[in-house]
Amino acid sequence: MKIAIIGLGFVGLSLTSVLASKGFNVVGIDIDKEKCKKISNGILPFYEPDLEKTLKNGLKKKLEISDDFSLIKKCDLLFVTVGTPQDTKGAIDLSIIKKAVSSIGKNLKGNKKQPIIFIKSTVIPGTMKNDILPILENNSKKKAGKDFGLISNPEFLQESTAIKDTKFPHAIVLGGYQTEFMRKAKKFFVKLHPNIPIIITNHQTAEMIKYANNSFLATKISFINQLSNICQEIPGANIDDIAKTIGLDPRIGGLFLNAGPGYGGSCLPKDMKALINFANITGIKPTLLNAVEEINSKQLDQIISITKQRLGELSGKRITILGIAFKPNTNDIRDSVAIELIKKFLNRKVKVTIHDPQAIKNTKNIFGDKISYAKSIRDALSKSQCAVIMTQWKQYEKLNDNEFKNMAKKIVIDCRRMLVKKQLDVDYYAIGLGRRK
Ligand code: UGA
Repeated sequence: MKIAIIGLGFVGLSLTSVLASKGFNVVGIDIDKEKCKKISNGILPFYEPDLEKTLKNGLKKKLEISDDFSLIKKCDLLFVTVGTPQDTKGAIDLSIIKKAVSSIGKNLKGNKKQPIIFIKSTVIPGTMKNDILPILENNSKKKAGKDFGLISNPEFLQESTAIKDTKFPHAIVLGGYQTEFMRKAKKFFVKLHPNIPIIITNHQTAEMIKYANNSFLATKISFINQLSNICQEIPGANIDDIAKTIGLDPRIGGLFLNAGPGYGGSCLPKDMKALINFANITGIKPTLLNAVEEINSKQLDQIISITKQRLGELSGKRITILGIAFKPNTNDIRDSVAIELIKKFLNRKVKVTIHDPQAIKNTKNIFGDKISYAKSIRDALSKSQCAVIMTQWKQYEKLNDNEFKNMAKKIVIDCRRMLVKKQLDVDYYAIGLGRRK
């Protein structure tokens, strides 16, 4: 059996590497020639823990990386993992996936194989039936369900734990018609992930499950962020004790209750916007989803307001931001709230210095010489009038008075409550902690 994975981003490259390292005969396909060359040599196009090791392991076995779509002709299973970004109105942009499936369709034409095509890319409900299926059938001159299988197979992996999540998913969703292809797909996944629940449903439900998942996670975050803002007005209140306790109630669950500066990344903000857009089109007013988004977009305002309160007019002030990646253990800055914060500070003519263990290069691509980039935390803090901790990188847990001693003003805003247990000689503010008045 040969497997093709089309689109080598976080999802595609993780799946390619995991399957190849397990000994499957795999071809990873991407239109970017340069990227393919690097991956073939074991060089990652982005930082992701454990991925390099898994990829190199796969490359020693039966793994080929190529920009040649015609290689899918030899494959029995095809996983489509290309991006589905946001268009300017917040709706989903299907141009990349349409192009990918039309190439797949052309390569299926006249081919004797009867492959199963799994769509892992996040797509709005109806996309499989209204767009992907007709494109495949028109280009291949074949029938789905008869000549090839077509299955919605949403992905739930998180960046920074992509390999672990690919190896041990919490559930497998297979959406589509109940054909022989579906039976074969189930058999493949039962073998690959024994004991993991497999949910077999139709296309539109599978598509919606993905949005339900991400929008619920975003809702949990905005819920705890709203409560954390209330806590800040209650002297002595602590959002982490509240989150920990409510999380013990199995009806609530403890994960995704970490208050902070708002959710970012390439998925939650985009999927929330796409779902809101879709709900509006269906005529359902997405009141709750709108509130989740609004809370998220206002979460940074309190940082600006604390800095103004303590520093007065912000123009010309020196502020350090610690952590730019949208979460720790990644160099991904797509839709990172720290990037938004830099923009807000620059609009107010703040002199911004940043530190991040992995994301400096990506940040430079956006801001160039408009901000300063520090190699060490100490350099980042030197002469600064305020430090804002945005991302929970482990390194920031170790911050102590020694590191803060060269600041011009020792104001620390800790959006992740990393230093809360320390007695520091600084003017300390933390999201979610009520300050003594
Ligand atoms: C998210 C989902 O968690 C994955 O299940 C999904 O597969 C993925 O999107 C996707 O659709 O591809 P990811 O974007 O990697 O994964 O990141 P998350 O770990 O969900 O974090 C998103 C944001 O929420 C980050 O900015 C993080 O700092 C923030 N967050 C998360 C909080 O502020 N508090 C929390 O308790 C959890």
